[in-house]
Amino acid sequence: MQTFQDKITVITGAAGGIGLALARQAASRGMSLVLSDLDAERLQQAAASLHMTAERVLVHPADVSHEADVAALADASFARFGAVHLLFNNAGVGFSRLTTEHQAADWDWVLGVNLMSVAHGIRHFVPRMQQQDGVSHVVNTASAAGLVSSPGMAAYNVSKHGVVTLSETLYAELADQRSSVGVSVLCPAWVPTGIARSAKHRPERFGHEADLSPESAIYAARMVEAVQSGRLTSDDIARITFEAVERGTFYIVPHRKILQAVQLRCQDMLEGRNPTALTPPGAAEGTK
Ligand SMILES: NC(=O)c1ccc[n+]([C@@H]2O[C@H](COP(=O)([O-])OP(=O)(O)OC[C@H]3O[C@@H](n4cnc5c(N)ncnc54)[C@H](O)[C@@H]3O)[C@@H](O)[C@H]2O)c1
Repeated sequence: MQTFQDKITVITGAAGGIGLALARQAASRGMSLVLSDLDAERLQQAAASLHMTAERVLVHPADVSHEADVAALADASFARFGAVHLLFNNAGVGFSRLTTEHQAADWDWVLGVNLMSVAHGIRHFVPRMQQQDGVSHVVNTASAAGLVSSPGMAAYNVSKHGVVTLSETLYAELADQRSSVGVSVLCPAWVPTGIARSAKHRPERFGHEADLSPESAIYAARMVEAVQSGRLTSDDIARITFEAVERGTFYIVPHRKILQAVQLRCQDMLEGRNPTALTPPGAAEGTK
């Protein structure tokens, strides 16, 4: 997808962090925006911060873990603008503790927001994008955690590995169909955003997080520190992502050093070795 001017983008998780940076990047390239987030109040503030005319922005709160909300977001987007050219399945939550301390509701929440939301987005947007004129593109936000397996974040890792393989599967199907819809999967390492404070976005139906054991507290603290220490900003990630969409790049890996850990994982498999332990919770020093 090479031109963005006057095209329509839909961004989930747009109230802050990488989602809001994608919105800034889209606005600067002349796109009209559908902004969505669970947090309606912060979403309104985010939309106002873009200083766009009302005709170019639709603000539509949604809980992306609910299929009905994603379906309603698609309906509202097509009703308002008649087409969607660039879909960012971006909303996500972080979660850190020992695997043995993940409760069923923790899995439901993290997989619901990080993985099932992407499945819902694909189901409710892509068939309509295929029917409209011209090319369009879907960017699914995974993570470096979808390429390697750092300790202390099992549900997050599983959700993001899921987003990578879901995106690869969709890519293969769309390529087979010679579809006008392209796909990319975004896999950043640590970026300073609100991701380490995701517990406040946990809908009531998923219950409350249990208290952390001392061992889990160490992992959780390391995640906070790792997120804060990220060297690329959300705006860097958004710029790199748009440039990658322009080139038609599938794997968007802004922190290139993470690829050393990916290579090591592949070599472990190819050479019949057990997994090389990664430094928790980031993959390795230099992946920020
Ligand atoms: N920050 C990082 O280090 C990092 C690294 C790799 C990948 N990511 C991914 O980037 C994406 C954006 O995260 P971020 O870092 O900007 O975090 P963030 O917490 O700043 O933004 C995430 C947004 O998602 C929203 N959200 C949470 N639950 C939701 C739900 N059920 N429905 C709709 N919206 C919901 C939040 O309100 C928030 O505005 C996520 O998918 C995350 O997993 C982040």
